[in-house]
Amino acid sequence: MSDTQWTDVGTVEALKQKSLQEVNCGTRSPSLISTFVTSGICNHVGGPLGTGTLDDYVVCPWHYLGKFHRETGARRGGI
Ligand code: FES
Repeated sequence: MSDTQWTDVGTVEALKQKSLQEVNCGTRSPSLISTFVTSGICNHVGGPLGTGTLDDYVVCPWHYLGKFHRETGARRGGI
């Protein structure tokens, strides 16, 4: 028996409308970035990454210190 749990977060067409957005998956609020999902919580002091900006990096909107590569998730800069 699998422990996998699936949550419907919307249609592909709706999710394609924004390249960076928050989706609700129950107790967490991950960010959806193009076609992959990562934590939506900045590890500085918990800013909402899904409402930040996106180019090569997702940038946290609270203090602009949390910068995470859009494909690898690697952090840039120090926090
Ligand atoms: S909470 Fe994200 S940079 Fe401060």
